[in-house]
Amino acid sequence: MADSKIELLLKKREKLLKGGGDKAIEKQHKLGKLTARERLDLLFEENSFRETQLFIKNRCTHFGIQGKDFPGEGVVTGHGIVDGRPVYAASQDFTVAGGSVGEATAQKIAEVMNAALKTGDPFVMINDSGGARIQEGVDSLTGYGHIFYRNVLLSGVVPQISIIAGPCAGGAAYSPALTDFIVQVRHEGQLYITGPLVIKQVTGEDISAEQLGGVESHAHYSGVVHFIAENDEDAINITKRLLSFLPSNNTEDPPYYPEMHDDEILPNETMNGIVPEDSREPYDIHEVISGVVDQRDFLEIQEHFAPNIIVGFGRLTGRTIGVIANQPLHKAGVLDIDSSDKASRFIRFCNAFNIPVVTFVDVPGFMPGVKQEYGGIIRHGAKMLFAYASATVPKLTVVVRKAYGGAFLAMCDKSMGADTLCAWPSAEIAVMGAEGAVNVLYRKEISEAGDADAERTRRLDEYKDTFANPYFAASHGMVDDIIEPADTRAYLAAALEVLRAKRELRPQKKHGLIPL
Ligand code: HXC
Repeated sequence: MADSKIELLLKKREKLLKGGGDKAIEKQHKLGKLTARERLDLLFEENSFRETQLFIKNRCTHFGIQGKDFPGEGVVTGHGIVDGRPVYAASQDFTVAGGSVGEATAQKIAEVMNAALKTGDPFVMINDSGGARIQEGVDSLTGYGHIFYRNVLLSGVVPQISIIAGPCAGGAAYSPALTDFIVQVRHEGQLYITGPLVIKQVTGEDISAEQLGGVESHAHYSGVVHFIAENDEDAINITKRLLSFLPSNNTEDPPYYPEMHDDEILPNETMNGIVPEDSREPYDIHEVISGVVDQRDFLEIQEHFAPNIIVGFGRLTGRTIGVIANQPLHKAGVLDIDSSDKASRFIRFCNAFNIPVVTFVDVPGFMPGVKQEYGGIIRHGAKMLFAYASATVPKLTVVVRKAYGGAFLAMCDKSMGADTLCAWPSAEIAVMGAEGAVNVLYRKEISEAGDADAERTRRLDEYKDTFANPYFAASHGMVDDIIEPADTRAYLAAALEVLRAKRELRPQKKHGLIPL
């Protein structure tokens, strides 16, 4: 072949790989941001990334952009290797027309998503864009439609992770919202449906873009974002760590890391001392979780949102588990609207991707209050029941302390499908707490007694002696075993080993109707 043809190719490629050019790249760097390709370089193993459709051009013939060059159409797409496994990615290039999405941009993104679906590999989308390319009008709008549609097709088939590393505003925010996990970069990433100017016009509220769509608002209040990253590199590292817990698709098991399992790290006697004597005293459930998972390595998800429940991934004997745990340090670990939503979503993710669910229970009940009732705690709490009962992955439950009423069922007791349930000696498994029960049962007796306080104390002690322990429930077959806390890891590991063969078939249906 004539050298000139190869030279032409190399020249064209070199120009395209520069994206918006040196000046735009410098501007991106000055903002503390990496370019689209630099981000992918961090994500993929060296020399493993294969770019797709670099030479694509838009066919737009109107609004002054006819013939205008948008190298790569403002997005870098392709596949590469992350920790030995193939992963597909699209990384928006802000240096090219602000990463705006035109018809061809959307076509590129949709095609890697199609490929991820066909080969069963995870899809990572790095967002840094001014949204729909305004000059292309409805062609870019429908482009977004193609992306959203594929987000839904991929859902539950391959893991989808979104990184918000720049603006992601308006309807564009719905693509990350349709994916499984969102990692947002502090200061760089901004995510909102309507910006500060529109809000000011419509509602009169004054708010900055950062306050509206920055990490704090989404990680703490809206619950839209799952991880806060301090910069681009951190976002990529979080993504890789997350991927290390996940299977490539819904037909595979999560990766197995036998080297993570080490008998030396079996919890020592400190496990037995975590739960305080006084059952009203709080403690940190993280201590229990890290006393169970391999190498005390736990990846918490939505750490700042609804902290009264903890969810995240760990490993047990080298295999991924999804952990759900009430946190007595926050609101005494009560279940409310946000914690129910958080846990239900996580349980459904685990079930879709063959990840066994381990639940640690210390729940005083559902949150009382007008705000909760008007906000639909019935509907939201029902999601927990639905998510657990419909999950067919192995379900292992450990009752650490309080397990009261409907909230105990919502944390997966045996009647709701737990394959095995063990309790610590500190467990209090009952239909309701002692105070509430005594008020309902003995109000008349207490008010009529000569010494009301003494009568109340007597009744409380009587109730606690009967019900505030694991033995009554165990005597009725609701508890498989009562174990020493220090044996928890070994108990769960043995249960998980035998449950690996679990197969549970349900009647065919299009889908259940989770109360959304
Ligand atoms: C075309 C765009 C663009 C867009 C940015 N650019 N957004 N071009 N369509 N949506 C271009 C700019 O004209 C500029 O081009 C370059 O990208 C860099 O943008 P700057 O404004 O210079 O950057 P910065 O100051 O950092 O501001 C970034 C920004 C701002 C906050 C994102 O560009 C912005 O507000 N853009 C518009 C956002 C928006 O309203 N999008 C909604 C579109 S409608 P030059 O040539 O000067 O370098 C939509 C609906 C989707 O998204 C619905 C889906 C369902």
